[in-house]
Amino acid sequence: MATKNIRLGLLSLSFYAALASDHSPLQDFCVADPNSQVRVNGMACKSPSMVQANDFFLSGLHIAGNTSNALGSKATPATVGQIPGLNTLGISMVRIDYAPMGLNPPHTHPRATEILTVLEGSLEVGFVTSNPDNRLISKVLQVGDVFVFPIGLIHFERNVGYCNAVAMVALSSQNPGANTITNVVFGAKPDISSDALAKAFQVDKNIVINLQMKF
Ligand SMILES: *[C@@H]1O[C@H](CO)[C@@H](O)[C@H](O)[C@H]1NC(C)=O
Repeated sequence: MATKNIRLGLLSLSFYAALASDHSPLQDFCVADPNSQVRVNGMACKSPSMVQANDFFLSGLHIAGNTSNALGSKATPATVGQIPGLNTLGISMVRIDYAPMGLNPPHTHPRATEILTVLEGSLEVGFVTSNPDNRLISKVLQVGDVFVFPIGLIHFERNVGYCNAVAMVALSSQNPGANTITNVVFGAKPDISSDALAKAFQVDKNIVINLQMKF
């Protein structure tokens, strides 16, 4: 009987540990104190008496990001890095601009599910399911369309219209994080061994070295 209870306890503990979303706040707010030396899971709280309206405020999300770069896209974040009042609240948003043919390249958010809506233009969006299926779930979106990228899955968006495109996304973390696949694989510092990557991608090592120089 005791063993069974211990097993049940372990089972519920492991279930708890598998919950990936941010934890619920235990107070009205915990405005991030960027100057604190305290290291916690998130950021330390500023004294509530010092909190101002501006801690919950950001302006400028109506301004288009500069898409003059190799990818033709630009993300403008409104996460805890820009809005300290988001700390511990488990939510954030990002404006994304896309030049014609612009791409927000395949990436994951380790801590957030994302919900995207198209404000201007036309986007091809998609995500790929985990091994072993690796199924591409993809759709072309128009203005007002909404699409969801489940937490942790690799996803991308591409402008398939003739004009600029704009999307606004919401994320289920104040600090969603982003792992861009190309940067993580070919831009690691220091490099992942080119022999390892040549074997992983089943290509000549020189191709890998070229990619590593690019990223
Ligand atoms: C956009 O970025 C490009 C490349 O960095 C730069 O040359 C250009 O001046 C920027 N444009 C604006 C309006 O900031």
